[in-house]
Amino acid sequence: MNILLLGGGGREHALAWKLAQSPLLKTLYAAPGNPGIAQHATLVDLDVGDHRAVVDFCLRQSIGLVVIGPEAPLVDGLADNLRVKGYPVFGPGKKAAQLEGSKGFTKDLCKRAGIPTAGYERVHSKGGAMAALDDFGLPVVIKADGLAAGKGVIIAETRQEAVDALDFMFSGALGGAGAEVVLEEFMTGEEASFFALTDGSAILPFGSAQDHKRVGDGDTGPNTGGMGAYSPARVLTPELEAEVMEKIIRPTVDTLAAEGMPYSGVLYAGLILTSEGPKLIEYNARFGDPECQVLMMRFDGDLAALLLAVAQGQLADQGPVQLADRAALTIVMAANGYPGTPEKGGEIRGIDAAQASGARVFHAGTAQQDGSLVANGGRVLNVTATGDTVGAAQAAAYRAVDAIDFPTGFCRRDIGWREVERETR
Ligand code: AMP
Ligand code: GLY
Repeated sequence: MNILLLGGGGREHALAWKLAQSPLLKTLYAAPGNPGIAQHATLVDLDVGDHRAVVDFCLRQSIGLVVIGPEAPLVDGLADNLRVKGYPVFGPGKKAAQLEGSKGFTKDLCKRAGIPTAGYERVHSKGGAMAALDDFGLPVVIKADGLAAGKGVIIAETRQEAVDALDFMFSGALGGAGAEVVLEEFMTGEEASFFALTDGSAILPFGSAQDHKRVGDGDTGPNTGGMGAYSPARVLTPELEAEVMEKIIRPTVDTLAAEGMPYSGVLYAGLILTSEGPKLIEYNARFGDPECQVLMMRFDGDLAALLLAVAQGQLADQGPVQLADRAALTIVMAANGYPGTPEKGGEIRGIDAAQASGARVFHAGTAQQDGSLVANGGRVLNVTATGDTVGAAQAAAYRAVDAIDFPTGFCRRDIGWREVERETR
């Protein structure tokens, strides 16, 4: 089977690495890909925004499965346009992808399905928001409804901060994403991510992870797309996982199916473990980046077969996902300046040395330039290792980081600290 993988970050490098190991695979194509993905796939120059061009490519290369990595093409309806032409796609259609594309859509779904989540109100104007603000205590969470690349959530500690946040949201700074806003009650508890594959009816858990959103050690500084992650997140005990499946994932899948927009792909649930039990913070309609990298390090099955079963509505025939008990941890090496304007073009050396001891270096934002590997994005490398414990995986991953020579880059030195602290308690 020929597979087309869309995307070009560390998540897609990890997916490409696993897909390439499948006995089902004939040729793996990737667009736009990156130098790491190119080790496993033929890179093709395809504009994912041009749906007709993607469909034409699938026809020409007899593609048997399209795997869509990032959210934007999902929210844009690419999966629907491929399915209409008969191509199996891993990833939800436009309607179901609203789970990620519209925070208000997800909150309304939670209300209809009785899914535990923060109390909320959807507002469409500054005036409406100011009136609604009085219904909330402090802190209050203010979210742009649409995709905002991690910039759409503000936790306001004071009323003035809330007013400033609303001014920002309705100023147009976030474009269409901020035209509608969701006000939310602030929840407290430890956060964890949970992943599940579904074809719209069957559901298979795909493990848990925790990431580190702040740029600096000790969870300080501005938010990022994620500076590192590990899996499993043992705070999500088997009992809590069962509760999440029953109270959050199952009702989501069933409600969307009953309402004529069945969800097919991976559900990435951002959870908060409150004193009242796990609650949903948000959904993503794709694998997390860099959470996917650690999940793939633990996954021992045939990824192409599994994603194809999802795409073809045959997940019920698959056994449980084979996730190894070992822990995996990934450290993001970012370019100086990230999450602001990252420095481009800095040379990277030492990847082979870093991988010599069994670690894997996934490329997130790299490019080949005059025979050298250089930084070409904010998050540049995902240095990933496994171990019997998160502590062992952490030690192995930092040894690999230290073998890499990337003078214009940086990383956090404390990825996994919560779990390592628990393990040594
Ligand atoms: P989101 O993009 O919705 O995941 O929000 C980003 C981050 O904001 C989450 O990872 C949480 O740390 C925080 N957050 C979002 N919503 C809430 C909430 N209702 N209560 C507390 N923290 C929240
Ligand atoms: N690491 C967070 C995300 O993928 O959304």
